[in-house]
Amino acid sequence: MSTAEGRAQAQAPELIRTKRDGGELGQADIAWLIDGYTRGAVADEQMAAMAMAIFFRGLEPAELRAWTDAMIASGQRLDLSSVPLPTVDKHSTGGVGDKVSLILAPLVASCGAAVPQLSGRGLGHTGGTLDKLEAVPGWRAGLSAGEFLATLSKVGCVIAAAGSDLAPADRKLYALRDVTGTVESIPLIASSIMSKKIAEGTGALVLDVKVGSGAFMRELDRARALARTMVRLGQESGVRTTALLTAMDAPLGRAVGNAVEVAESIDTLRGAGPADLVEVTLALAREMLALAGIDAEPAQALADGRALAKYRQMIAAQGGDPDAPLPEAPHVQLVRAEDGGYLRRLDALAVGVAAWRLGAGRARKEDQVSPGAGVICLAKPGEKVSAGQPLLELRADDPVRFAGALDALAGGIEVGPDQPDSRPVVIERIG
Ligand code: URA
Repeated sequence: MSTAEGRAQAQAPELIRTKRDGGELGQADIAWLIDGYTRGAVADEQMAAMAMAIFFRGLEPAELRAWTDAMIASGQRLDLSSVPLPTVDKHSTGGVGDKVSLILAPLVASCGAAVPQLSGRGLGHTGGTLDKLEAVPGWRAGLSAGEFLATLSKVGCVIAAAGSDLAPADRKLYALRDVTGTVESIPLIASSIMSKKIAEGTGALVLDVKVGSGAFMRELDRARALARTMVRLGQESGVRTTALLTAMDAPLGRAVGNAVEVAESIDTLRGAGPADLVEVTLALAREMLALAGIDAEPAQALADGRALAKYRQMIAAQGGDPDAPLPEAPHVQLVRAEDGGYLRRLDALAVGVAAWRLGAGRARKEDQVSPGAGVICLAKPGEKVSAGQPLLELRADDPVRFAGALDALAGGIEVGPDQPDSRPVVIERIG
């Protein structure tokens, strides 16, 4: 046994007991624990016990600060000081049909800010930005740090895969939390997200914290608590940070999948986007521009084609062909309304799981996604529908997938005689 392993066997249980019994960990202990875990000196079972103790006991603000700093220090922090424009990024906690990044990055860049976005792939029922963009023929997510910086400086926006040296402690810890029932802890979620965003080097950050059935946070109170915790962490690290709480009870926009979401993003950049998607995107763009100190109206950049031109430039800079036809799944099945009335509910989780089962998402990190599979919502909650009218179009590469998607949708669609109250898409701002 090495000296480091010997020390870990003695020291880690002591720290776990401290947290288990409601005590407070010191900054040096936290730095030691996270560094030891990243290097393999602290064992998975020790970190799993610590994550469970934190799940029940939480972290005090000073502990959370130290935990986040230690996760950032486990890898490289990008230096964006050579970028000649104010940098500002957005992070979404993930939702069904959430294609906002594809529109927002070029939109905000077309108004004069630089948007450096390191993104992830989808796992489970919410899609990943990289999977969506990879539906564009030729587009590449893997950029070196040099390519990332050069694209950001030249185009003004870049969306790429986070490298393995960005907060490596989080990569290991998130995988461990996933299999130990410790994902749903506000301090662990907040430090996980914010360590990656702070390490990315952005000067400002807007968080889109989704609330509702298709979101990570189903209840408003917990979403608000997560948003407040992340905003505080960002501000304490010198990253100007605000958050919007936005609705995720129904899919955002009408398309859920990969190529279908790219197509809807292009429609939105052409000024023909669905109202809820446009509203969330413009609200986030206004927040980002305000944090970047830029006085511009993003609706204008959508209307006059500047944002679309910037999107085409962003795609081409990463090898993509913005004019190439997008992949289409060959098999289509319609889901029709059983009765007439108003569409009262189109459950985001049900549609997200249906799209996932059609092939648009992955169950394991190693799985491939189908670029053409997904769901098109032909009607949205609040709209009047007649009996037999198509509500959803399901698309798949293989028709055997339709049965699983239809099972996921059972109970997720409600048509009734009364029009539902319209609910705000942007619920609250935390700043
Ligand atoms: N997303 C992250 O990056 N980390 C979490 O812990 C949860 C969601």
